[in-house]
Amino acid sequence: GMAELERLAADLRTAETAVAFTGAGISAPSGVPTFRGDDGVWEAFDEGQFTYDRFQRDPAGFWADRVELHRTMFGEEYDPNAAHDALAELNRNEHLEAIVTQNTDGLHAKAAADAGGDDGDHDSSSDGGESAEAAAEFGARETILELHGNARRVRCSDCGRREPMEPIVERAEDGELPPTCDCGGTYKPDVVLFGERLPETVLQRSRSLARESDVFLAIGSSLVVEPAASLPRIAASNGATVGIINLESTPVDSAADSCLREGVTTALPRLQELVELSGSVQ
Ligand code: APR
Repeated sequence: GMAELERLAADLRTAETAVAFTGAGISAPSGVPTFRGDDGVWEAFDEGQFTYDRFQRDPAGFWADRVELHRTMFGEEYDPNAAHDALAELNRNEHLEAIVTQNTDGLHAKAAADAGGDDGDHDSSSDGGESAEAAAEFGARETILELHGNARRVRCSDCGRREPMEPIVERAEDGELPPTCDCGGTYKPDVVLFGERLPETVLQRSRSLARESDVFLAIGSSLVVEPAASLPRIAASNGATVGIINLESTPVDSAADSCLREGVTTALPRLQELVELSGSVQ
């Protein structure tokens, strides 16, 4: 409720290193389906069809199923919602050190581009901005870390070249199974598949952020998938104030200082307002 939001806002105002960690629930109001719960993606699809092992063994069959999953999850162009925008604003005003997301929809990057008032020199509607991994490689302090990659991109599993996903999905729908790169390599959605290692740089940076954080918000995630679900625990064991904002209970609730059973599109704009309130002239 309000009291908890006011306490979280007070913590955010004085935080040195505040981190927001997000899951599918933050994109649900944008229309992107979540994975678990009654109308979750894994009710309609068998996650066993999307393992890294299957991609390696049977890339054609993997892509035939992936096209259907992609159309279900990303059928139409989704827009960031008020929760993404609130986090983007807190990030821009340096109340948040970073946003670490499990989501592959690129909506945090879109919201950042909208909030940043970019001169629009890059097309934020394509691959959702530079990948955190690439940015980390070049030492840029990317403030949006995509733990599970970005489904708006594919990557050649041989030469590593990245391409926008849309045209590749169309080629696969037209029968190119699996879609292949000019180098002859097989394209892979630029996401972390079940059984696949997370990008090391992004995972290490996320873990050190969790360790350094003094406020850690876990938003819209069921917190059941590792290693992501361990991040709020790392933060808590290093003395951070952990706030969970989620419609359902999670296995990490007992380790958190506060749990808000509230929708992200009401809780986050309100939280951002309360934090910025202090910034304005009283
Ligand atoms: N406001 C707040 N919470 C919400 C909202 C909302 N509007 N809508 C849904 N939620 C909550 C649900 O109650 C649920 O607990 O968001 C959570 C979403 O959980 P999941 O669907 O399990 O998504 P996530 O935690 O991101 O899954 C982690 O699992 O399948 C893999 O790689 C995939 O990144 C994904 C990972």
